[in-house]
Amino acid sequence: MIKKLILKLYPILDKIFLKVDKSQIRRTKNIRLIPGANHRKGGKVSYAEWAHVIGVFQTVIYQTIEQKAGNNILDIGCGTGLLGIASEPFTYQNGSYTGIDVMKHDIKFCLKNYNASNYKFIHFDVANPTYAANQDKEFKAWPIENESKDLVTALSVWTHLCEEDAKFYFNEIARVLKKNGKAIITFFYLDERYEDSLAIRKDEKGRFHSTNQMKWIYDTKAYKSKDWFTTSWSNNPEEAIAINKNGIEILTRESGLNLIKYYPGNWKEQAGTYFQDILVFEKK
Ligand SMILES: C[S@@+](CC[C@H](N)C(=O)[O-])C[C@H]1O[C@@H](n2cnc3c(N)ncnc32)[C@H](O)[C@@H]1O
Repeated sequence: MIKKLILKLYPILDKIFLKVDKSQIRRTKNIRLIPGANHRKGGKVSYAEWAHVIGVFQTVIYQTIEQKAGNNILDIGCGTGLLGIASEPFTYQNGSYTGIDVMKHDIKFCLKNYNASNYKFIHFDVANPTYAANQDKEFKAWPIENESKDLVTALSVWTHLCEEDAKFYFNEIARVLKKNGKAIITFFYLDERYEDSLAIRKDEKGRFHSTNQMKWIYDTKAYKSKDWFTTSWSNNPEEAIAINKNGIEILTRESGLNLIKYYPGNWKEQAGTYFQDILVFEKK
């Protein structure tokens, strides 16, 4: 009851807090763009968590790209713009950021909230059973020129794509990247660390330590795929999708992109850089 009331008050308290807090920002200019509680999406609601995740990805972007300014960045599944904020320092000196998302409402918000002239947002009219079930079911190329981007990012997006979509849009990454361009894509990656985590999560009687530790168990095939999996609680596979090593090999082989770096995620109950696994690819 009290928890419900506090959560109801959260957007109001947040509005007051954010105004004061933003007036105190001294060293991290880009986080001034973090939206209010009602627009903090992508499975992360808390202001602190947004600021933290922005910092994590700003670091990963810095470590990934060769030129530190003037980058043309494409963010797939931009949601309400978290990676747009992390990308800002890398777009200085004639760079640009383009966010694409299937959710019209979020794109509308982004257009209002991020109005710098080098920021662009595009509503992509294709279906995703979790986010935009009634849109166009055909595959579509992104409205982005060939070999025009230095970096493609996607935070928590391939974790909502079935095998066919994952493959089609992975090839799109290869198409839009310049030579030596990079892609930072998060996954639930079913590797050895995942197998280890299954044991860590259980006590000696085989019981899970907590309900949260039961949540991220990928034991159900996503639409009969051999390499893409979902959880038993998902209403449709696109609510939560994981991929095994063979799946990543298929994506890289078919697209020609090379996997160059792997930052394991802490969803596997082991120390990690972020919650999901971050994989970095390069176009040779
Ligand atoms: C979990 S949210 C992550 C949003 C954002 N990247 C973040 O971390 O805050 C997943 C996003 O992917 C978008 N999405 C799903 N399928 C997509 C597709 N085929 N093309 C572009 N965006 C898609 C959803 O609309 C949603 O905004």
